Amino acid sequence: MRSLISIFDLSVPEIDGLIKTAEDIIENPDKYAEKCKRKKLATLFYEPSTRTRLSFEAAMLELGGSVLGFSEANSSSAAKGESVADTAKVISCYADIIAMRHPKEGAPQVAAENADIPVINAGDGGHNHPTQTLTDLLTIHREKGRLGGFTIGFCGDLRYGRTVHSLIEALSRYENINVILISPTELRLPSNLKKKYLTEGSYRETKSLEEALPELDILYMTRIQQERFSDFDEYLKLKDSYCLNTEKLNAAKKELTIMHPLPRVNEISVGVDKDPRACYFKQALNGKYIRMALILKLLEEAENDREYHPAADFIIDNLLTCDNSKCITSIEQEIQHKFRLTDAENGVYRCVYCERQSKKN
Ligand code: CP
Repeated sequence: MRSLISIFDLSVPEIDGLIKTAEDIIENPDKYAEKCKRKKLATLFYEPSTRTRLSFEAAMLELGGSVLGFSEANSSSAAKGESVADTAKVISCYADIIAMRHPKEGAPQVAAENADIPVINAGDGGHNHPTQTLTDLLTIHREKGRLGGFTIGFCGDLRYGRTVHSLIEALSRYENINVILISPTELRLPSNLKKKYLTEGSYRETKSLEEALPELDILYMTRIQQERFSDFDEYLKLKDSYCLNTEKLNAAKKELTIMHPLPRVNEISVGVDKDPRACYFKQALNGKYIRMALILKLLEEAENDREYHPAADFIIDNLLTCDNSKCITSIEQEIQHKFRLTDAENGVYRCVYCERQSKKN
């Protein structure tokens, strides 16, 4: 069964196909109004959400389908200790497709391994948020007419911001993209992501938004992620690191595209909303269209029973245990710890669920 857990579950031609479908939906909504008649989407949200959950629900309703689900863990049997695996098995009896958000990294992967229906990762902790990435790619495509040949600045919480991580991963597959990473030292992009997805000379780091702004074709602002900090004083120290306002925008290009996955706290002044370069509310709308395209694709593949066999390159090894307290393996009942070998010479493995590295001696 085909699910979407990471943006890398989709090839570049498949992403291009989803963007094409989303743009066709925007042009011809009536053509799609009954495409999901009698189909049900279950939204299983163990963490708060406005855009992702409601755009998924709006997407299914506009395709002629129905929705069911929960918007917080406490209103589900998770509050009684039910595992993600059991929940996924049960929901497979009631729905045709699942969208899941969970605070633990890898939880949607566990759901996909246990469900008989497609599972879409709607955000797992600080790990991945692939449908936000699809939303961002659609927005860039609609605003710039292309997915390469630009300078993009990521500003704010680059350490915990899963939308930034997923978008950088996705953009690494397109050509001629310069990246400027704008953050306080404490919130820099994790070095493993820099090493894996950014090439020497194609990116630089700075603390100053003002210094980077004149160079940018796209500015991707992010909120400082209070919920991911273990030390609240550290959050208080960093929370007001950046605020984009109309005055600062005077130094920016006329054709700049300002994006933000939202919610914003105070990193973009409300005065910027009227600037034609502000695209973050259009971005939220694009989220509905790309999720319509994704639901259609996964349901069509499930219906045609196209078996999907991802490379079974992981190993199950009880000698290795993931030590990431944010990984789903830290709470899920009787889960087997699975790892991929990433560096044979040094015995380095990566957890299949959260991608934390472990070493085997
Ligand atoms: N962008 C985003 O994921 O928003 P929500 O948290 O409101 O879903």
